[in-house]
Amino acid sequence: MKIKKLFLENFRNYEGETFTFSDGLNVLFGKNAQGKTNCAEAVFYLCTGASLRIRHDKQLIKMGEEHAYIRAEAENRYGNVTVEANIFENKRELRVNGSKIAKNADLMGHINSVFFSPGELRLIQDGPDERRRFMNVSISQTSPTYYTALLRYNKILDQRNALLKNPDFSLVLDTLPVWDEQLCRYAATVVKKRAEFIAKLAPYAKEMHAYLTDNAETLEISPDKTYEGDEEEIARRLQKRLAGAYEKDIRLGFTTVGPHRDDLAVYVGGVEAKAYASQGQTRTAALSMKLAEVEIFKELSGEPPVLILDDVMSELDLPRRKKLLRLVRDMQTLLTCTHAERVLYGAECNKIRIEKGKIKE
Ligand SMILES: Nc1ncnc2c1ncn2[C@@H]1O[C@H](COP(=O)(O)OP(=O)(O)O)[C@@H](O)[C@H]1O
Ligand SMILES: [Mg+2]
Repeated sequence: MKIKKLFLENFRNYEGETFTFSDGLNVLFGKNAQGKTNCAEAVFYLCTGASLRIRHDKQLIKMGEEHAYIRAEAENRYGNVTVEANIFENKRELRVNGSKIAKNADLMGHINSVFFSPGELRLIQDGPDERRRFMNVSISQTSPTYYTALLRYNKILDQRNALLKNPDFSLVLDTLPVWDEQLCRYAATVVKKRAEFIAKLAPYAKEMHAYLTDNAETLEISPDKTYEGDEEEIARRLQKRLAGAYEKDIRLGFTTVGPHRDDLAVYVGGVEAKAYASQGQTRTAALSMKLAEVEIFKELSGEPPVLILDDVMSELDLPRRKKLLRLVRDMQTLLTCTHAERVLYGAECNKIRIEKGKIKE
């Protein structure tokens, strides 16, 4: 997949700019706080319908303006595709090839991207929230079924959590089984898709890690719980576990079991990375996982995604940087950095300098 042009109007600190990207490596460079990440964010938004940093679209609109408009003109293996977003304070409109999109799920897959920022380099050190987010964002882009199930799961979960706080115990105990039946149906889809994702991710990540460390270290990833069997069995088992935790859930006022609590276990050199690996090792492992994500996208959609590397080069050591540049040679990459010459080592690229929300020639 390739983005040929990106148009930003009243988006973050951009008033009106058109980016022209090349097929290979595109380097957005400039001082801090000029708009490099904002540009990357716009691309990610057009790929997923979601922002990286915020919950409310309002912050995406240039201060003092009422409406932002962004558009990507791209090419995937089926041909040209244009994705547009009109963002207002309280609503937004997404279009693919001119037709309005009713659900976010319908946006996914037109342009796939893998976003990589210093935050993702902490994927292993950080809490399970980040690892679930990694899976959610990644799986959603290739599976609308997953995305929809996850949305519904979260909605019911919110309702269940609200119910748990109700002081009327008998009402709570009567109503919980009703919620749980629905909850488990969506949970089973989520869990099953995650297990499939991890099964694909693990061998790729292992391979990438071996490459990045010159076979010095091994990387293993496994789901923290074994959900075996088909969706029906998973749902049934989960329902039992939920029922077994009623007392605890009521006491704590939230749901303590389910996919919203699950995690990925990552082992480097046979020991749990989170607990034992050095910062450098966990970063390399995180990089391997993101590169494995790229491979999954290639496998599932038949073409490489757009890779967005936001400020990651400065966080990696020299050998890792060089290896990363070698790996991304055959895919469109948008890389942001402050000093292009310090991270690129003469790699051929399309350089774009950004200053105060403007492209400088
Ligand atoms: N909604 C907005 N309206 C105007 N400016 C914004 C908005 N959101 C962020 N900015 C500005 O964008 C700049 C940060 O841009 P960013 O892309 O994160 O910088 P960098 O080039 O370091 O990646 C800051 O100066 C910030 O004030
Ligand atoms: Mg930035």
